[in-house]
Amino acid sequence: MNHTALITGSTSGIGKATAIKLAGLGWNVVIHGRSEDRCKATVKEIKAMTRNEQVAFVAADLSELPQVKAIAEKIRTDFPKLNVLINNAGTFSNTRLVTGDGLERTWVVNYLSRFLLTSLLLDVLKKNGPSRIIDVSGAYHSKGYIHFDDIHLAKHYSMAIANNQSKLANVLFTYKLARMLEGTPVTVNTLHPGAVNTGSVLKADGFSTFFLWIYRLLSPFFKSPEQGAETSVFLASSLEVEAVSGKYFVNKRARTSSRASYDIDLQDKLWDLTAQMIRQIGINYGD
Ligand SMILES: NC(=O)c1ccc[n+]([C@@H]2O[C@H](COP(=O)([O-])OP(=O)(O)OC[C@H]3O[C@@H](n4cnc5c(N)ncnc54)[C@H](OP(=O)(O)O)[C@@H]3O)[C@@H](O)[C@H]2O)c1
Repeated sequence: MNHTALITGSTSGIGKATAIKLAGLGWNVVIHGRSEDRCKATVKEIKAMTRNEQVAFVAADLSELPQVKAIAEKIRTDFPKLNVLINNAGTFSNTRLVTGDGLERTWVVNYLSRFLLTSLLLDVLKKNGPSRIIDVSGAYHSKGYIHFDDIHLAKHYSMAIANNQSKLANVLFTYKLARMLEGTPVTVNTLHPGAVNTGSVLKADGFSTFFLWIYRLLSPFFKSPEQGAETSVFLASSLEVEAVSGKYFVNKRARTSSRASYDIDLQDKLWDLTAQMIRQIGINYGD
């Protein structure tokens, strides 16, 4: 079977390790990141490591939804056989940052852009089925709360509140989408990769010297990026899960996610709000 996978946020960390593994299996792999130069360097490195020439890239800042739409169009044209989408890119920030559309940035990069990209590629994935969507969430979704009255956290912002809200949204989105995709050749699952030593904290702004010192002390005990990618690779490629959809995985096993994540009213409410948000900024995504 010929596979074509798009892995968002694959210029470093878990996404890059996932891309290396899938390219090593001989798949067509599309790398993604914000900078063309970093994408090109990653493609070159993966081709050299795996001797697989079928590695390409798309560049887009996921905090800008028109750029998300543009890469979806590029994928439709240049990679029409896409049958695996791994929504992996993620960010966090100690300070509240706002996108060009006036939306809170963590929410857009970690959740809203995934909703839009997935929606725009759904017909391609259906046509190329059996297809798989994998949404990289995190264990902190269980501490998350969807602040419907202040989704952009203008009143109370912290890195944890923003990250946990976006990660809960990933799980709610996966479960709602799995219900919608029943009877189609597309599955969708979500996962926690573990605590992974990707250095993502060191790239974020606003952490105290003390926090960074503790992080540097503990991070050698975290998983390596290769170990952190194992569940994503498993969900993308294993025959064991070819018919499994709407589940949350940790260490390649289906696990129970937070109680809130199974709330169907909450899943539906979030879906409707998200669709409305995307329409409000003038993007037609064909819902
Ligand atoms: N590391 C952990 O312990 C851990 C734990 C739980 C969950 N997770 C989740 O796992 C996923 C990957 O995390 P990681 O630790 O591997 O992160 P990472 O090493 O910091 O990599 C993040 C990737 O996302 C891309 N990215 C960041 N902001 C972007 C934006 N605005 N637009 C487009 N791409 C953007 C980066 O690309 P460029 O910088 O090149 O643009 C990079 O390729 C995230 O969803 C994260 O929440 C990680």
